[in-house]
Amino acid sequence: MSPWHEEYRRRYARLKGAGKSFFPHAVFKDALVAFLIFAALSLLAWKFGAGLESLADPTDATYNPRPEWYFLFLFQALKAFPGSLESVAAVVLPGAAVLGLLLLPLIDRGPERHPFDRPLLTGLGILGLIVVGSLTVAGLRSPLVNPIEEKDPLVAAGRRVYQDMNCAYCHKIRGKGGVVGPELDKVVGGESVEWLEKHFRDPKSVVPGSAMPQLHLLDDEIAALAAYMKSIGDEPFTKEAPRLFSEHCAACHKIGREGGESGPDLSLIGSARDKAALKRAIADPTSLNPAAAMPAFKDQLTDVQIEDLARYLSSLGR
Ligand code: HEC
Ligand code: HEC
Repeated sequence: MSPWHEEYRRRYARLKGAGKSFFPHAVFKDALVAFLIFAALSLLAWKFGAGLESLADPTDATYNPRPEWYFLFLFQALKAFPGSLESVAAVVLPGAAVLGLLLLPLIDRGPERHPFDRPLLTGLGILGLIVVGSLTVAGLRSPLVNPIEEKDPLVAAGRRVYQDMNCAYCHKIRGKGGVVGPELDKVVGGESVEWLEKHFRDPKSVVPGSAMPQLHLLDDEIAALAAYMKSIGDEPFTKEAPRLFSEHCAACHKIGREGGESGPDLSLIGSARDKAALKRAIADPTSLNPAAAMPAFKDQLTDVQIEDLARYLSSLGR
């Protein structure tokens, strides 16, 4: 028997000989630790609270959802399973792991207590930790699907005012909202900032008899709303854009029934990506996804042509 083995046996015999009963000794230790953890959690909740992101925005299709780090392994494991098998990774496997842990005392009835004396189960445990650990690292490294866009703070403020003032009660943006007023993304593209601001200050001053109420907004709210409106509005593209598309893109992409299959179908792309993301996807796809198979067009097309194409694509599927 190796020295550590003997030492371990001796200590075990000594502790067992001391004869402290489970209740109250062990129970007291458990309760103490549980209380300390509870106190620490309460303190953290009281002093710091949960770090929340900004309000969920259904019109923002460029959000990058990410779980907290301790769920990254599940997030990563999900990617190995195609859609219909998702529940295997999300429910069956974790469920089996927890069930295994619950049943462990019944499965493993060996009298040995030291980890080194139980190579099979210790090995399995370490293997499990390695799998979870590497999935976590892979999850941390996996590229974001959507570009991280620097969001204009004025636009973000405008979006908040839009939510706070409940404008969606009367207006639709990207198909979501009420029907009393016009669908804003379809109409505001043509309005100037000055017109919008005047309209927000007093709708009747620019649209006689307007059914939109005067909302008594502050100047900075008006400026923010106008910036938000400009950010959602469809901008006109030229007749050149569809032609550019058939010439440079249709070999790989479909719009409607026309086009190739080696890239994704773009018939509805405007409902999923905004113009800034589209411009990046066209000019330099590897800036969004290092493994992109699509060629970059920043040297083949001019900035004006890329802008034109992006406006054209962002009008699709709205
Ligand atoms: C009670 C319903 C109602 C509410 C609430 C409302 N609107 Fe309107 N809005 C209308 C109607 C009706 C029109 C069309 C008449 C007009 O242009 O004034 C309109 C027009 C507009 C236009 C002009 C569209 C264009 O280019 O012709 C904009 C922009 C607008 N609303 C934005 C907003 C914003 C932002 C809010 C929230 C701060 C809001 N509306 C709240 C009913 C409403
Ligand atoms: C050689 C084939 C090929 C050509 C040519 C091509 N693409 Fe792509 N494109 C792809 C592939 C493949 C993807 C999928 C992502 C990747 O692997 O790059 C893609 C992705 C995209 C996306 C992103 C779609 C999404 O869901 O985010 C857009 C937008 C796009 N292409 C637009 C264009 C436009 C506009 C042109 C013409 C200027 C063009 N593509 C030319 C193959 C091509």
